[in-house]
Amino acid sequence: MKTKLGLLYGGKSAEHKVSLQTAMAVIKALDLEKFEIHPIYINVEGQWIKGPQLSAPVENIKALEFSEGKQLSPLSLAPSLFQAEQQNAAPLDVIFPLLHGPNGEDGTVQGLLELLNLPYVGNGVLASAAGMDKVMMKNVFAQAGLAQVNYVAFIKSEWERAKAEAYLKVEAEIGFPCFVKPANLGSSVGISKCTNRAELEAAFVEAFQFDRKVIIEEGVVAREIEVGILGNDNPQCSVPGEIVPKTDFYDYKAKYEDGDTALIIPADILDEEYGQIKEMAIQAFKALDCSGLVRADFFLTKDGKALINEVNTMPGFTPFSMFPLLWKHTGIEYPQLIERLVSLAKERHAEKQQIKYTF
Ligand SMILES: Nc1ncnc2c1ncn2[C@@H]1O[C@H](COP(=O)(O)OP(=O)(O)O)[C@@H](O)[C@H]1O
Ligand SMILES: [Mg+2]
Repeated sequence: MKTKLGLLYGGKSAEHKVSLQTAMAVIKALDLEKFEIHPIYINVEGQWIKGPQLSAPVENIKALEFSEGKQLSPLSLAPSLFQAEQQNAAPLDVIFPLLHGPNGEDGTVQGLLELLNLPYVGNGVLASAAGMDKVMMKNVFAQAGLAQVNYVAFIKSEWERAKAEAYLKVEAEIGFPCFVKPANLGSSVGISKCTNRAELEAAFVEAFQFDRKVIIEEGVVAREIEVGILGNDNPQCSVPGEIVPKTDFYDYKAKYEDGDTALIIPADILDEEYGQIKEMAIQAFKALDCSGLVRADFFLTKDGKALINEVNTMPGFTPFSMFPLLWKHTGIEYPQLIERLVSLAKERHAEKQQIKYTF
């Protein structure tokens, strides 16, 4: 029996195009002897559109941007959205959300899939939500005793009520240089590096355009090392990779426009540095109750100390993205990586079916 795999991609997000590229690559990598492919496209307006079952790879992302077909609101029609096309069809076996950022990587879509009791790839509601919110994530890491940069956070109304106090608090507890970030975004959107009060003030204004919560972190001079984690209860760690941005920091432009940020895999770091990072990454995975996959990102200081920066619960997943490349170098090629993620999704779902809901 083939696995009926629902691919959920697009999304009302800055990473819409990236998600389409990812979907195209995943479709190409899937073995059609093993999988039925059922595309579900979320357009930029946020409408969910079910496309026809695919029986061959697509050559162009345009072929995945459906405009007609079943236009269904996920709330009223979620069950039929996740069914195969045929009459009296069974629901899809596994859903693979290839979505990044808010409304995709933050637990909202995961919540819908939980309600429908459908197996899905990747992290659950809690890990996705906590991983999206940099303040929550860092609070969890602090509780787990993981080394990280100092940080403070403000909500918008707090800052509006007492701006001068907010700046003084940052200067006293964090100092310069510091990084000001919206709590709930990715892709470096709304992030500024500040070296003085004037820049700090501008950075608050900028970051609060994107979120009602902002985090300010101590800026460190460090290498940026990333590892991939794969698994459920017994997660495995990939070889390390290093990102070397050409810009001052790994900003939006460096990530998506220039494309000349170097990815070095495996990263040239010492065994004990890798040991530290691997242990911390697995601890972070467990602390956030992750499942399936994460990419864990670290700062590695000159004196060989690893600080965790963040985990990404749905890391970039094109064949040229860091996470798949890390696993390729660890010995798992892209098609096998996808199959492994699908079986991890089934495994976690099956385990959940054992839970008693009455007593
Ligand atoms: N505290 C920090 N010290 C030094 N550089 C930082 C710091 N925080 C972020 N950066 C730089 O900004 C980039 C984006 O920040 P990050 O927190 O990873 O946001 P995103 O979730 O958008 O990827 C990092 O990859 C790094 O280059
Ligand atoms: Mg990052």
